[in-house]
Amino acid sequence: MSIITVNPELCRKDGICSRVCPTRLIVGEVGAVPTEREGGSCIQCGQCMAFCPHGAIRVQGLNPALARPVNRKRLPEASDVDILLQSRRSIRQYKQTPVPKDVLEGLLHTAAYAPTAKNSRRLRQVVVYDAANMKALGDCIADCLANDKSENPLIAEGRALALAWRKGLDPILRGAPHLVMVLTPNDHWAVIDAAIYLTYLEIAGHAHGVGACWAGYVTTVANHYPAVAALLGVKEGEIVAGGQMMGLPSLLPMNMAPRAPYPATWL
Ligand SMILES: Cc1cc2nc3c(=O)[nH]c(=O)nc-3n(C[C@H](O)[C@H](O)[C@H](O)COP(=O)(O)O)c2cc1C
Repeated sequence: MSIITVNPELCRKDGICSRVCPTRLIVGEVGAVPTEREGGSCIQCGQCMAFCPHGAIRVQGLNPALARPVNRKRLPEASDVDILLQSRRSIRQYKQTPVPKDVLEGLLHTAAYAPTAKNSRRLRQVVVYDAANMKALGDCIADCLANDKSENPLIAEGRALALAWRKGLDPILRGAPHLVMVLTPNDHWAVIDAAIYLTYLEIAGHAHGVGACWAGYVTTVANHYPAVAALLGVKEGEIVAGGQMMGLPSLLPMNMAPRAPYPATWL
């Protein structure tokens, strides 16, 4: 069966699908029913479905029920988006009340709209939701760091964190009730995809009142210590590309971060 199917009764043969297809898979000319080229290089991005004004196209593996019409009247004002982005801050003070699972699931779903290279979508996530599992993870990280006798300055810094953890402080997980880690194949683009996904997740959380902070230390130790990787269920061939600690903020910033734009060369 063809990956792309066109309903001939709905198709107006306007050629829009052909123009928007990034792989030029749909070779129909304006006025012709699009056809599928031999060899099928469809990346299942759904551009043809999204741009077809007549709902005439289906793509295998893409649920048409999720292809809701874009209601442009409901898009936020540009200035509101600016405020949302500029008011985002790392949150390191959390309530211990869990974020309801359906709220977290909603954020994960929204973040899944993040672009991926060639629509490859090779991310997998591990959500550490339960308090007991967060504590077990913190204990495991602290044990690994405390027992590591290596001279590596990064590990020396980690040993100080482990010591703090054992004193009841939490500079690693920041007292967050939850953690979302993203696992990918060990591949440049997959790691970039993960960073974009996690950025979407942080912003979506911010919009919904859920705080987040990038889990850089956890990422480093999960890729360094097999015991931490095992707790997260990292599989053969996967790396931990990044993560976000998440929870309901117990403190909120009152002011925007002072940030200058990066230097730009205009050509
Ligand atoms: C890739 C990455 C890793 C990070 N890892 C940590 C971390 O392990 N712990 C932490 O408290 N903050 C971490 N941060 C948060 C940064 O410290 C923070 O984004 C930066 O200081 C700017 O502050 P802001 O996020 O409030 O604007 C990380 C941020 C990024 C982008």
